[in-house]
Amino acid sequence: MAKIWYLGHSCFHLEIDGVQVVTDPFITGNPKASEIKLKDVRADVILVSHGHGDHIGDLVELAKQTGAHIITNYEITTWLEKQDITNSRPMNHGGNYAFEGLHFKMVNASHSSSFPDGQYAGNPGGFVISGQNDCIYFAGDTSLTYDMKFINDDFNLDLAILPIGDNFTMGPKDAARAAEFCGASRVIGMHYDTFGFIEIDHQQAKNEFDAKNVELTLMDIGEKLEF
Ligand code: NI
Ligand code: MN
Repeated sequence: MAKIWYLGHSCFHLEIDGVQVVTDPFITGNPKASEIKLKDVRADVILVSHGHGDHIGDLVELAKQTGAHIITNYEITTWLEKQDITNSRPMNHGGNYAFEGLHFKMVNASHSSSFPDGQYAGNPGGFVISGQNDCIYFAGDTSLTYDMKFINDDFNLDLAILPIGDNFTMGPKDAARAAEFCGASRVIGMHYDTFGFIEIDHQQAKNEFDAKNVELTLMDIGEKLEF
């Protein structure tokens, strides 16, 4: 049984086997998430998919506040070290890592990755998180790729958290195909409606997933789910 709390954009608070995992912290810079208070967010682990500002906006602050273990790519851990945040695990595509009873695999994402100042931030990635009874794919920012079929070969997903906002990532049609590729019958959408370029029609998005027999959930910011 995993618990999911949506903090807006690509930021989720997941509780899996009692471990609190936060993805891509971006709250204070997100006008749509003004009801979420960063100080209320606890974390044992922070997963960071890439260096763009809408994924690391609150990373340093949340890391300092929680002391959480940060799992991300090598370049982002190096950037954090320069800011005296050393509790991090550098990874790259294909790597596996066990921490606090959970298993993390860093998988490919097809996107770009730089820090807000333009500095190189390594390759963008996604993560497959496995607990005792839960297996969740957090895709980060990505287009549809054939590599997603490998996830279906290696894991039995309960849930995929996929970007659906189009323009910078997959739109709903490709995301529904991604769900099929990775073998997820249940998807939570992310990376949509935060700003103008990625506003989507929710009903149209649901229709794309219905056509693939995949259940799409679009959570309200601040909403909590258990599954
Ligand atoms: Ni991005
Ligand atoms: Mn993004």
